[in-house]
Amino acid sequence: MNARSSPDGSDPAGRTRLAARSSSGRNDLPARAAELRRLLEYHGRRYYVDDDPEIGDDEYDALLDELRTIEAEHPELLTPDSPTQKVGGGQVVSELRKVRHRRRMLSLANARREEELLAWVERMRAFLAREGIEDPAFDYVVEPKVDGLAMSLHYENGVLIRGVTRGDGETGEDVTHNIRTIEQIPKQIDGAPAWIEVRGEVYMSLADFEALNTRRAEAGRSTFMNPRNSAAGTIRQLDARLAAERPLSMWCYQVGETEGIAFSSHHEALDWLHDRGFPVNPDIARLRTAEEVVARCEQWQERRAELPFEIDGVVVKVDDFELQRRLGVVGRDPRWAIAWKFPPTTAVTRLIDVMWNVGKFGTLHPFAQLEPVHVGGVTVKLATLHNEEDLARKDVRPGDDVIVLRAGDVIPQVISPAPHVAERSDRSPPVRPPARCPICDTPTVKGEGVFTKCPNRVCPGRRWQQLQSFVGRAGMDVDGIGEKQVSVLMEHGLLRTPGDYYRLTEEQLVQLDRFGEVSARNAVAAIAASKQRPFGRVLFALSIEGIGTVTGRNLAQRFRTIDALLDASTEEIAGTPGIGPIVGELIHDQLHDERLRAVIDDLRALGVRMEEEGPPPGEGPLADKAIVLTGTLPTLTREQATERILAAGGRVTSSVSRRTDYVVAGERAGTKLEKAERLRVPVVDEAGLEALLEGSAPEAG
Ligand code: IVH
Repeated sequence: MNARSSPDGSDPAGRTRLAARSSSGRNDLPARAAELRRLLEYHGRRYYVDDDPEIGDDEYDALLDELRTIEAEHPELLTPDSPTQKVGGGQVVSELRKVRHRRRMLSLANARREEELLAWVERMRAFLAREGIEDPAFDYVVEPKVDGLAMSLHYENGVLIRGVTRGDGETGEDVTHNIRTIEQIPKQIDGAPAWIEVRGEVYMSLADFEALNTRRAEAGRSTFMNPRNSAAGTIRQLDARLAAERPLSMWCYQVGETEGIAFSSHHEALDWLHDRGFPVNPDIARLRTAEEVVARCEQWQERRAELPFEIDGVVVKVDDFELQRRLGVVGRDPRWAIAWKFPPTTAVTRLIDVMWNVGKFGTLHPFAQLEPVHVGGVTVKLATLHNEEDLARKDVRPGDDVIVLRAGDVIPQVISPAPHVAERSDRSPPVRPPARCPICDTPTVKGEGVFTKCPNRVCPGRRWQQLQSFVGRAGMDVDGIGEKQVSVLMEHGLLRTPGDYYRLTEEQLVQLDRFGEVSARNAVAAIAASKQRPFGRVLFALSIEGIGTVTGRNLAQRFRTIDALLDASTEEIAGTPGIGPIVGELIHDQLHDERLRAVIDDLRALGVRMEEEGPPPGEGPLADKAIVLTGTLPTLTREQATERILAAGGRVTSSVSRRTDYVVAGERAGTKLEKAERLRVPVVDEAGLEALLEGSAPEAG
């Protein structure tokens, strides 16, 4: 039993009080009920959110039973947020309760050009002069304006008790159950005041957004439009288990109401937050002059595309709280802050036509052919419309003026018809998926899912996608073979099945448009090297519907050889993590397709790895070790590090708890590193990981 104490300083299981109660009268019941609720919240969180329980299930159940009994006998003591009303820690709520903000959550006025920013500074000076403050010395704090949704976190005596959305600024919604699934957010803070409200932006990183959409697409589900929408949709889920599956992040940018602590400036408050483990963006700057501020805003604008999350501008704030107070608020905007908005990356142009291509499993995907238009520095002629459902929702039609968005370096997309389009009476009819495959002319079918498919398994469009996916990043990861090369190879009849890649020669390649002597040699070498890719990747590369990158790895770990997998029953396949009965059957059926079997035999004969090279579960130098990766390692990518840990029998988990065996930290490691240090989990660097992989104990970093 762990000796640490619970937030109120009592024995964590509440046994001291439990004993005291027997002699207490009925009047203490409200206090006991409140205490039980607090204890159950605390231990529920340790169990479900921190993955680090302090008490056993029996003790937890005893507390819950006691509370249930009290509530049953005294219904007036039953509160709507009582743990007895919730399902586990993956809490499910029946509605999002409205919560009034103690202090209004404001919005921001905009500046789009240098003159507008300088005019803002002048307005502040003039305003303060009228207040008798001549020539104030401003310090400015310049922060990224993260494109997510504003959140207010409430900490009572250092314990996170509530997370509330911004709502209309006056009243928001209680989303505590989902906030608790965000790993970066401290659930408890040391040396905290009686009350503190922390504000910030909840967002989904681009990598998490893409991974989520890939997972959804692999599962045949509709995909999210952009990281902001998916973060907003996630945070408002009633079931926290859904939120837990969709990783959200947060940047904290403000302290709201406090009791028992006061700050004199914004940067002081941010430093305090950072020191207590809150995620505060490390690139926030404190600057002296308006010129420096403008330069900094322009710098953010240039860096925008490289950031791992979306920003739609920069926020500039006056640092000094006394000046902030004097400047006050106009309408809904503080006078002391302004948002520098980036120039739009949207443009309006004419939609010439909606075209369709075929995905690797035959699904038809619409895309837009556009009147060429300049957006965010490039000319765009084609833009994605994602899928049939997305097209129906947007209802863009040939001839319409449409809004095109190009965000960061992602593929341009059509957002919607331009506003004036709705008034037109001469629009063409809504676009429907074609009755015949645009590539092979086979009549299309509406699959079991929501999407129209080309049922032809040897459709050249589909084959092109599959051959490209085979050598793609998540597949065999062959450098030097991209879309264009695949097309050329197919046109020349050199590439029909995956095995053909391994039969290509330098002599053949140099004859083709796309290759020179050096690139031909490099391509052949890269193809040969790909034979050593882990079995899990090979399974993904085979383009089997239902096998994504994660399930590929799981199947490889579980069945270990291709023969074992080919012999497996539907039930055995469906028992693999991440695979249910429907997908299990889908995979099983495809594995019994003769064509796929021939491809597998061919690849095997060519020397492509068809078995898991690592030790079976429970064996290997890292057997049963739980490892968390954080930050950027000097040479290994996250994917490579994961593969090597799995190959050594270890597990890679996402959050740090007492049960974590090692944290591997690289550059810019964040809160996971801090948590590891707090929990005294051994931390190693890449060299330390190498030592672990070889089976020697690393030096603690
Ligand atoms: S300050 C002063 N700081 O932008 C009150 N807001 O347009 C405003 N936002 O609702 C909040 N990053 O959702 C502030 N570093 C940042 C921000 C930020 C993003 C969002 C926030 C707010 C909206 C205002």
